[in-house]
Amino acid sequence: MFISFEGTEGVGKSTLIRKLYDHFLAHGQDVVLTREPGGTPLAEQIRALLLSVNHDEQMSHDTELLLMYAARAQHLQQVILPALASGKTVLCDRFADASFAYQCAGRGLSREKLQLLNDNFVSKMPDITFWLDAPIETGMSRARERGALDRFEQEKVTFFEKVRAGYQEIFEKQPERMKRLDATQTPDQVFAQALSYIDIE
Ligand code: TMP
Repeated sequence: MFISFEGTEGVGKSTLIRKLYDHFLAHGQDVVLTREPGGTPLAEQIRALLLSVNHDEQMSHDTELLLMYAARAQHLQQVILPALASGKTVLCDRFADASFAYQCAGRGLSREKLQLLNDNFVSKMPDITFWLDAPIETGMSRARERGALDRFEQEKVTFFEKVRAGYQEIFEKQPERMKRLDATQTPDQVFAQALSYIDIE
């Protein structure tokens, strides 16, 4: 099973993923915990480029999109596909939906560009995607409490409103794959809601 986790900043993705990871382990499952952008040494280097605020020049939106997919191609080939092929469950903190939400809905890039990349470089989509949804301000104050903000976290509320609307769009189009979790609940409640969608006996 391939499970991804999505949402705007500070909605509690890491906490939920950790709880699910422990739960899978406790049930004797072979489970891989990974993230995007990143998940391999090379893809983590691309992540550092993407999140760094120390650019002497502004990163173009096209460059941002292409770097996301360069990291994703590496991650899919090196980690996700081999793990799935050997029967492991993969828990992935963000995947291709994030590119639709952030680069298309957020940055305003065309769906055609994204479609081209998905068609050619994403051979496997998650079986289930958990979208942790909460009002933008709630998440941003949590992100601010964590310390220095990365290049995305420094964006304005209006950007994240567009990202959230992007996730809403995917949710409406693919309700069988994408499950919305109310991230204003306590971590235990979010975990219980997620568990109600997966059967891991
Ligand atoms: P993280 O903060 O959840 O680790 O993710 C890093 C940032 O990268 C986050 O702000 C969302 C952004 N991102 C995209 O813009 N597009 C993508 O395709 C992915 C995977 C992440």
